[in-house]
Amino acid sequence: MTPDQLSQPEPTRRRVIEALLGGGLLASFASFLYPVLRYLVPPAVADLGGDEIVAAKLTELKPNSGKIFRFGNRPGLLIRTSSGEYRAMSATCTHLSCTVQYRDDLRQVWCACHNGKYDLNGRNISGPPPRPLEGFEVQVRGDEIFVRRRREA
Ligand code: FES
Repeated sequence: MTPDQLSQPEPTRRRVIEALLGGGLLASFASFLYPVLRYLVPPAVADLGGDEIVAAKLTELKPNSGKIFRFGNRPGLLIRTSSGEYRAMSATCTHLSCTVQYRDDLRQVWCACHNGKYDLNGRNISGPPPRPLEGFEVQVRGDEIFVRRRREA
């Protein structure tokens, strides 16, 4: 063998190294691209919930309190007012979709993300929320509180 031949890598070793480098670059590219694509094309999430669910037991909420419950794939908010009345609405803020909560000190529905506020009927009254929260019907049957989506007329 000449010294020139000794310094040249073997063709098969070169191919293996090129394949490894190429595979690594491809894997890196895919690892960057995948989250971007998942963000741009979110998976279709089926709403597995029906039109009605049991949001709470009758004894669960004291006056002037609220409870987050799961309604399909979204959170809902059940409120028992100071006078003992029940109200239910979507807990997804109409601004940027944060989950709202009942504030017993304000007696309002409040969004912690940007200080958005809604009244007890879900109407947006202050802050950035552009629309009211979707309201639900509430029915007490036996010792359970049922929440149902409003039917469109
Ligand atoms: S997301 Fe609720 S106020 Fe901005």
